[in-house]
Amino acid sequence: MATVMDNDVLEALLEQVRPLKGQGKVADYIPALVTVSGDKLGIAICTVSGEQFQAGDADERFSIQSLSKVLSLVVAMNHYEEDEIWTRVGKDPSGQPFNSLLQLEIEQGKPRNPFINAGALVVCDMLQSRLSAPRQRMLEIVRKLSATPDIAFDSVVARSEFEHSARNAAIAWLMKSFGNFNNDVATVLQNYFHYCALKMSCVELARTFLFLADKGTAPHLAEPVLTPQQTRQVNALMATSGMYQNAGEFAWRVGLPAKSGVGGGIVAIVPQEMAIAVWSPELDEAGNSLAGIALLEALTQQLGRSVY
Ligand code: DON
Repeated sequence: MATVMDNDVLEALLEQVRPLKGQGKVADYIPALVTVSGDKLGIAICTVSGEQFQAGDADERFSIQSLSKVLSLVVAMNHYEEDEIWTRVGKDPSGQPFNSLLQLEIEQGKPRNPFINAGALVVCDMLQSRLSAPRQRMLEIVRKLSATPDIAFDSVVARSEFEHSARNAAIAWLMKSFGNFNNDVATVLQNYFHYCALKMSCVELARTFLFLADKGTAPHLAEPVLTPQQTRQVNALMATSGMYQNAGEFAWRVGLPAKSGVGGGIVAIVPQEMAIAVWSPELDEAGNSLAGIALLEALTQQLGRSVY
């Protein structure tokens, strides 16, 4: 490492990006998210050798939102053959906003990738078909991966999303019209919104996603979550589609597989080394955390890390 990592290094990076506060906007299309203070800023790192570093609001829980799309894909990869998944959802970047319907109509109901809303909804439809209690199962998995028994859904956020679900419902119904959605739309939307409404801290997220830095397993896990090949595949999807239409810009600035959520969280992976979680609720125009990206950029520059 170019820098010896410690909590003071992370504190200094937080101070470096704090002046960006006020330049982004807290998500307001989900009313329950507007109540979160834009001032929050946190970072946590878990390494494959078992170290943990943190600074700022790293222990405070927030709505993980689209970070859950990685977890639902991982669960689907555990329950479906490769072909069964990838005939229903693609592996390419969309270049479009995460909740766009445009390509879906043109491409006959097959979403470009599992990290846009349409793709995540297909994945949730698959989970509904094969798991007896998809919400409970997700809780069990996240509690195991984070080694934290009290991870829970924020029911206020889940209800708020369901009450403002016109666009996601339209996406699901459009896919149903093309035969790419098998279950009851409202049931699958409820599962999807609950996954998005999981409340977790940066520390819990870095630990949860550590298996993606460690070929599918992690020091605190009794058994692998994915095979090494599946792990490479998920990281490849995060690198190409994790930051929506700004995936290229993010690769340029940060150079790591990553996934964002409109709660202001971003999880990034340094393969074979560490999982990083950052949180700052103010978003840029693509719906990615503005200071969160700057924080990851400053960190990777300081550490001299990139997958490219
Ligand atoms: O469905 C939605 O719009 C939200 N529950 C999740 C969107 C999201 O987090 C996109 N990420 N940047």
